[in-house]
Amino acid sequence: MTKEINLESGSEPTFSRLPKTVIPTRYRLFLAPDLKAFTFDGTEVIEINVTEPTERITLNAKELTVSNVYVQDGRGTQLNGVVTLDDEHETAEITFKGVLGKGKWTLFATFKGVLNDKLRGFYRSVWTDDDGKEKVLAVTQFEACDARRAFPCFDEPEFKATFQVNLIVDSHLTAISNGRKLSEVQLDGPFAKGAIGSKKLIHFAETMKMSTYLVAFVVGELESSDPVTVNGTELRIWCVPGKKHLTSFARDAAAFSVAWFEDFFAIPYPGGNKIDFLAIPDFAAGAMENTGCITFRETALLADEKNTTHEELEGVAHTVMHELAHMWFGDLVTMRWWNGLWLNESFATFMENVCVDAWKPEWRTFDGFGFSQAAASKIDALASTHPIEVEVNNPEEIDEIFDVISYEKGCSILYMLERYIGRDTFRDGVRRYLKKHSYGSTDTSDLWDSLEEACHDAGLDVPVRKIMDAWVFTPGHPVISVEASAMDGFITLTQKDFKFLADAASETLWPVPVTVRANTAAGVIERKFLLEGAKQTVYLGEKLDWVVVNAGGSGFYQVRYTPALLAKLTHDMQNRLTVVERFNLVNDAWSCVKARLTSAVDFLETASLFAGETDFNVWTKLLGSLEVLHSILGGPHQIALAKLISSLVEPSVKRLGFDGIEGESAQDKQLRSRIFEVLGTVVGDAKVEAKAKELFAKWRENRDSVDSNIMPAVVGVLAHRGDATVYDEFEKLITTSETPQDSERFLYALAEFRNMELLKRTMTKSVNGEVRNQDAPYLFSNIMGNEVASVEAWKFLKDNWDKMAQMYPEGEFADMCRSVSNLDTPEMEAEVREFFATHPVAAGDMAIAQALESLRINVLLRQSESQRLAAHLLPTVTHGCVAPAPAE
Ligand code: BES
Ligand code: ZN
Repeated sequence: MTKEINLESGSEPTFSRLPKTVIPTRYRLFLAPDLKAFTFDGTEVIEINVTEPTERITLNAKELTVSNVYVQDGRGTQLNGVVTLDDEHETAEITFKGVLGKGKWTLFATFKGVLNDKLRGFYRSVWTDDDGKEKVLAVTQFEACDARRAFPCFDEPEFKATFQVNLIVDSHLTAISNGRKLSEVQLDGPFAKGAIGSKKLIHFAETMKMSTYLVAFVVGELESSDPVTVNGTELRIWCVPGKKHLTSFARDAAAFSVAWFEDFFAIPYPGGNKIDFLAIPDFAAGAMENTGCITFRETALLADEKNTTHEELEGVAHTVMHELAHMWFGDLVTMRWWNGLWLNESFATFMENVCVDAWKPEWRTFDGFGFSQAAASKIDALASTHPIEVEVNNPEEIDEIFDVISYEKGCSILYMLERYIGRDTFRDGVRRYLKKHSYGSTDTSDLWDSLEEACHDAGLDVPVRKIMDAWVFTPGHPVISVEASAMDGFITLTQKDFKFLADAASETLWPVPVTVRANTAAGVIERKFLLEGAKQTVYLGEKLDWVVVNAGGSGFYQVRYTPALLAKLTHDMQNRLTVVERFNLVNDAWSCVKARLTSAVDFLETASLFAGETDFNVWTKLLGSLEVLHSILGGPHQIALAKLISSLVEPSVKRLGFDGIEGESAQDKQLRSRIFEVLGTVVGDAKVEAKAKELFAKWRENRDSVDSNIMPAVVGVLAHRGDATVYDEFEKLITTSETPQDSERFLYALAEFRNMELLKRTMTKSVNGEVRNQDAPYLFSNIMGNEVASVEAWKFLKDNWDKMAQMYPEGEFADMCRSVSNLDTPEMEAEVREFFATHPVAAGDMAIAQALESLRINVLLRQSESQRLAAHLLPTVTHGCVAPAPAE
């Protein structure tokens, strides 16, 4: 889309909102997709309310032709309309010869469009059946602003209406939409286009009052699981033929969640009496919460429980629960405009965690919550971050905010509030909010109203609005420094905006809900309070020994202790600190390294305290950070660090071994896999490589004979060391694998090889149509992240820029470009900056600004730490080799 420059206000595009003079109340849609010609014909009947007399109706349309438009009122008055399409502003303006008076009218229109291959609007998805025949599905993806690509509509979330969908499709196909199928009639009229009975007309039940972005229809060859009925709502998992055996896990997750959400929200499922869950072979996002017709990419819905890793299963459960949470939070109650997107996404992200935790407490979901906070903090500590809620005026700006700030930061601050006011009060507030605004539209402030009422009724004096507004409307988050006060029993907390680049820090002060746990004369005590100013001294009790700030880890802030306080905490860490608290200790220490507040050498010292660590999450954070340090070193220093890593994980290797242990936890399985991978790649342990070969041979014979959790590591190790034979085998396995997860694993493994010829083959695949456009940007991103390939991949990216920009879904392309932050030398940085100065990325302004700032931070990290770290690791070796490892 070309942005129009409005000279008066600077550079803002002029995208105005639709006037409120015409309000739609009910749509009847008739759509006839042609899965061979990739087109569709449509007719619509929209009941509207005219609030002020007008000669004009403006609604949204994009890449449609619209004809035969007229309005009628209840007395039979008919006015014919002339349509002016404005593709740039994505509108259809209909002008009538005469005035539509106030009151009810009905708008009729006929339109045509293309079933595009852009994975948005009404699009086609292609798959191959067992006989090698190509088949087509027609699918919709409307969020955020793409319903207008399928039918002319008032495509803003506040224009809620009901939708009665009718589809005319080939008789042998299945059609699914938001509402339940009411009837199916064979056609022999003009729509039949040929043999009588070759087409059928399907009527679907009218939806609840909802926004256009939630409308959906899917047409094609589909098969489904048996239905399961939960409190009267029928649930079915759909997929293309041949994959039905992969539906039971999602069905179990869905069945649990629908009942659980009905109870949590105290509102029965609002979308009618069925929910279909559909796995779509080509799907840009992970999943989409269309009311009653939820769509997913295959890996996010289908799973073979026995041959899927724990992480992949968790992924399916999280996605199913996230989308189901939206049925209430988003679908029943919807943000008035897209600035409130975070209300939808952060809330669904939060509820997904709570629901998974309720379903499978043994998965210890909240032990891993630090990853969400850390992912958000990594972006939020950039000057180029944005407040959770921001003004957005056009579709590109709207697409841009589906990011880690709207999802993970938003979710983190909801969790912070929930822990502060308690789950019961939080739930009470949410129930009030949903009840009060059912079928309506809200602003952020409406949620605070309800939560404040709940706090009031619970006798809690918490200024919810004041706290939350500060976190929602101010970018960034603080680091809280903790020191023991001169007086026994007191600590002093000081807050400051945390930024990786010191000069980017603002003077912002947040109202921070703080939880502290401390050992005092009175035993272990816990205190909750609000830190409001820059500095606050708090009394905790006599004979204060150790103290944990951000106890429980629900606070969205970093903590820095004085060395003396830190030493006390780490002394008996496994007993004194919970998993999340230990995770945060590592994460905060690592953030300090990135901010160059402490040295990489200090980080190694912190890491050495974790040799006795047993938790998967903590190890993952530690090993990830150590891998970054490994990547900024060269030759012998890398080997020295690898040795150190190897000795650090040794106790865990002794404890876990490389084969599964009967009855062990999923977390231990994952930990084994993570360590195995690091040993086989970064450390280059020959025994591990041999073991990987052995396990892979076993797997090849019989998939069930190897614990699926170790497979990502096995595949990763083999790719890292692999030659063309391994490459060829993996390449085949992409298409012959029996699960979408395995298939994806072998695809992405093609980015992990170290031989440049093989990596070039992978690069070529990412643009020659062999890899689905939904996956290619991730594949390419992984190549950019491969230290031996990044420079070559950058050249390839520049050479194929236009092609990639045109092929890949917009949001994924922008996200892919973030991987330039791996090019962490000053020369490459200069080149990257120069390139982006003249190559804008659609819906990617923020992504690029953040990528460039991250790149700056990585360059500075390499500059300041590689030599110091090298000197520490091998004091006798001169460090002439701190450049990235040369490509093989
Ligand atoms: N509403 C989104 C889908 C979406 C994402 C639409 C981006 C338009 C642009 C959906 O609820 C969602 O958040 N999906 C996630 C998966 C979820 C488990 C976090 C996704 O697609 O990544
Ligand atoms: Zn969502």
